[in-house]
Amino acid sequence: MDLRVGFLGAGLIATYHSKSLRRSGADVARAGVFDPDPERAAAFAAVSGHTVARSPEEVIEGCDAVYVCTWTSEHPRLVKMAAEAGRAVFCEKPLGVDAATAAEMNDVVERAGVVNQVGLILRRSPVFHMLRSLVHDPRSGGPLAVVFRDDQYLPTRGAYGSTWRGDSDRAGSGVLLEHSIHDVDLLEWIFGPVRRVSASMAENHAIDGIEDVAVATLEFADGTRGSLISVWHDLMSRPSNRQVEVFCRTSRAQLTGEWLGEVEWEFADSAGRTDHTAAEEMLAGTWRGPGGPGENPDGAFVAAVRAGGPAYPDFGVALRAHRVVEACYRSAATGGESVEVAP
Ligand SMILES: NC(=O)c1ccc[n+]([C@@H]2O[C@H](COP(=O)([O-])OP(=O)(O)OC[C@H]3O[C@@H](n4cnc5c(N)ncnc54)[C@H](O)[C@@H]3O)[C@@H](O)[C@H]2O)c1
Repeated sequence: MDLRVGFLGAGLIATYHSKSLRRSGADVARAGVFDPDPERAAAFAAVSGHTVARSPEEVIEGCDAVYVCTWTSEHPRLVKMAAEAGRAVFCEKPLGVDAATAAEMNDVVERAGVVNQVGLILRRSPVFHMLRSLVHDPRSGGPLAVVFRDDQYLPTRGAYGSTWRGDSDRAGSGVLLEHSIHDVDLLEWIFGPVRRVSASMAENHAIDGIEDVAVATLEFADGTRGSLISVWHDLMSRPSNRQVEVFCRTSRAQLTGEWLGEVEWEFADSAGRTDHTAAEEMLAGTWRGPGGPGENPDGAFVAAVRAGGPAYPDFGVALRAHRVVEACYRSAATGGESVEVAP
């Protein structure tokens, strides 16, 4: 039987997942889509082959797996509804507006025993896979320090075509939670758990509760030190850009990009080397594997649902990132004191 896939939310990221599902070649039946904005739902349905439903309940009733792609504050209610009906759930990041909500959502899917995946898609990014393997290369001698810079134009304009990211009731908060939860997750994926943080934030665009600059100093459990700087600015030429530099005892690696991009590195025991095409080589198959670089996250989700799970990355992975983000907000509220990250 075809796996029936439904959508809650028919905006930017729902459209991305729908196209990505098609690209993955996964054999799925397009079931219901619901969005309170009827024009969006109709436009999404016309292109994707889904059928417009009158309510989230109708979508959930008529599918086996559901994508929750609404603005963030609606995720918990819809995930609960879907999980309690026994449906597999793909929920976009951030899971919820704060870490306590994310923890409840993780409990909900665990209790229901449903396959669950979260939209931390950069865990499959070829360039980040490459950076991670350079850091873990035995020739590196182990990591010492990382500088992670992420910048993006304020996402209430341009390609985003929505305003909810400027509303703290719906977004939770600003650049750190809404955007750089990806970065926090990547940092833990590469360097292991963050133990302590100190952070400061600013609201230069004067949008209440929406920080547009977040600066965090991170102390990892293995002793690595890091800094994360995340900025929402007004440079419309820069939709989203990441630059990361890592120093290990006997190596250095630098990444510019997000999915593809440039990775340069040097080891102390060689003359030094740069390679700007390595990410493409990885996509071509050299480094491919389950959960590996370039793997289509939507094809992987459908395969996991068919297999009865588990999917990757799941809500438990996302909860870790929420805990680090929450510690950063806690630190910033105290004027930047060093605070412990909840286990
Ligand atoms: N993984 C990523 O890289 C990535 C990228 C973009 C967005 N996101 C996340 O995806 C989510 C959606 O972002 P977006 O850019 O697609 O926003 P969007 O504004 O383009 O789309 C959200 C849609 O949800 C709809 N909606 C609101 N409440 C609903 C409900 N109860 N039921 C059904 N639909 C409802 C809205 O009408 C809107 O059309 C956010 O949580 C965002 O953080 C993740």
